[in-house]
Amino acid sequence: MRFEEKQIVLKDGRMCILKPNSPEYAEDMIRYLKETPTETDFLLRNSDEVHFTVEQERALLQGILDNPYQIMMVAIVGGRVAGNAAINGIGPQRKLQHRCSLAIALYKEFWGLGLGTAMIGYLTELARSVGAWTQIDLEVVAENEQAKKLYEKCGFIETGRRHNALRSDDGTFHDEILMYKDLT
Ligand SMILES: CC(C)(COP(=O)(O)OP(=O)(O)OC[C@H]1O[C@@H](n2cnc3c(N)ncnc32)[C@H](O)[C@@H]1OP(=O)(O)O)[C@@H](O)C(=O)NCCC(=O)NCCS
Repeated sequence: MRFEEKQIVLKDGRMCILKPNSPEYAEDMIRYLKETPTETDFLLRNSDEVHFTVEQERALLQGILDNPYQIMMVAIVGGRVAGNAAINGIGPQRKLQHRCSLAIALYKEFWGLGLGTAMIGYLTELARSVGAWTQIDLEVVAENEQAKKLYEKCGFIETGRRHNALRSDDGTFHDEILMYKDLT
């Protein structure tokens, strides 16, 4: 989905642009997908599971840009990708058409600067404008206090827990907390 760029000021005074992710960021996104899992174990995909070529990533980003039910927002600070967040429709079936899901990850140097709050605020506005969705769902690793705080601050409510949803490479299992935000 295409949408208007928005400029925000981070808590450290730097300017940040929130804009639709697009094929021009294909190489940056591959780097981001590989590097962010080295900074936190709370992401689903591990670095060694990123196998996209630049061409494939370009095509993927173009497809998202052209799809009215996929919103992908990149945050740019000083010309660099600081983070990415997305809202996607859950599925095309009529019984699922009212739901979308949210995902977000920032490079560690941009944590705690208000960027997550700003991105989710803008994504929520855009999700409402789509007109089809009445709720945003998400899952967060139970131990991810920073993300849970962010989601609560942005109006998400805990609705459940998925036992042993994730298994880390060190063999430990982690529950996921299920959260949702009402868009009506
Ligand atoms: C989770 C994440 C997106 C949060 O984004 P952020 O830009 O750091 O969040 P914000 O700065 O907007 O902070 C939002 C709230 O989180 C809380 N928070 C911030 N830093 C925190 C910390 N270190 N510990 C606990 N809570 C924290 C505060 O309540 C804050 O609200 P406040 O600014 O009004 O005090 C970011 O830390 C990140 O990308 N983490 C790694 C990937 C990840 O875990 N993604 C979520 C997967 S479900």
